[in-house]
Amino acid sequence: MINNQTVSLLGPSNECGVDNNIDDNALLCDPLHHNGAVSPPIYQSSLFTFSSYQQMLNRFRGETKDALYSRVGNPTVRVFEQKIAQLERAEDAIAFSSGMGAISNAILSQVQSGDKIVCIKHVYPDTYRFLKGLCKRFSIKVVFVDGGDLEAIARELVGARLFYLESPNSWMMQQQHLSAIGKLAKAQQVTTIIDNSWASPLFQKPLTQGIDIVLHSASKYISGHSDTVAGVVASSQANIDLITRHVSPYLGAKLSANEAWLLIRGLRTLKLRMKQHQQSGLEIIAKLIDCKQVKRVFHPAVVPSNCDSLLGYGSLFSFELADEIQVETFCNALRIFQLGVSWGGYESLVIPAQAVVDQEAEFNSAKDFGVSSRLIRLYVGLENVQELWRDLQQALMAAQTSRTDAASTDQA
Ligand SMILES: Cc1ncc(COP(=O)(O)O)c(C=O)c1O
Repeated sequence: MINNQTVSLLGPSNECGVDNNIDDNALLCDPLHHNGAVSPPIYQSSLFTFSSYQQMLNRFRGETKDALYSRVGNPTVRVFEQKIAQLERAEDAIAFSSGMGAISNAILSQVQSGDKIVCIKHVYPDTYRFLKGLCKRFSIKVVFVDGGDLEAIARELVGARLFYLESPNSWMMQQQHLSAIGKLAKAQQVTTIIDNSWASPLFQKPLTQGIDIVLHSASKYISGHSDTVAGVVASSQANIDLITRHVSPYLGAKLSANEAWLLIRGLRTLKLRMKQHQQSGLEIIAKLIDCKQVKRVFHPAVVPSNCDSLLGYGSLFSFELADEIQVETFCNALRIFQLGVSWGGYESLVIPAQAVVDQEAEFNSAKDFGVSSRLIRLYVGLENVQELWRDLQQALMAAQTSRTDAASTDQA
């Protein structure tokens, strides 16, 4: 241990977060479908017909929930939504064609012009742009607050309509104390939304901690194979109705039946994959904090906090390179880790903050929140963990040598 950091494992009682019957049922136990199929059929149909005038009328009056039109709902998508609702201990869920579809629909269902939104710092960059750009255009006031500072949160919640959380947050992996925040927000009648993508629906259950609405970029762990872009929101029936009645039909970002089928398939292995991600991620982190080329690691298992909502650890984290390590050489030297955005699939990925801070983008959250350009975001996938470690080791060595070489060349 070089940097005074240690890896703290969650207690054994917490480990049962992944050994839960309700979760098992949601992940695995599908009723048999047509012809005894164990996997639901893909209802590749834009519309669904009615056998009589009366049946159509009943549907239009809202007296039945029969499938009508796939922009509004589709039976394959419904299977996915019900599984997520069960996993998140929610009354209902609604799925979208991206995580941003879930985020924008959830936020817009709760606010109107003149309202104030409080959001934690280091929120996912496109959520930041949505709030700073689009929401402000509709005269919605947005304030960013340190998600670890309960006093500052309590102050900002006064007069607010919505508090948007992401725990752990992007880049810094800082957790928020969900139950404490849930109480503060309820006292002020502020609705809380949380992006729970990092933990997956298995490793954190925010609705059981007093948070009102939970959402995911299902493009990540839920899909698990980097072949789908999708999102989902889970909450009380009243909150889901606000989305389905007033927002989602008009923004039109509903999930398709094909994508839903891929996500249902992804869910079947979610538990196994998350266990492996946790194990591989912690193994790599334990080695990195022992490494002189690394200044600090940012991951909930390493950064001390009194938050207790995580039931397991995701494998996305960041670390700061020591001054003598060249960021570009390190990235180019990697052989298994690939330079790429997103995460949650099989393959391990890396993003240097330097490239993000330098990008030409309106409302650059990494720049605005002061992310160090020596930070590297690492996603540990499902490849052999020894090979992954060897890859990181050789890239760190290569980046160190090249800097020393450059210095000695300069002196010559
Ligand atoms: C934490 C987090 N939330 C939301 C999103 C947006 O999801 P999507 O790309 O599915 O729209 C991402 C995407 O990387 C993310 O990392």
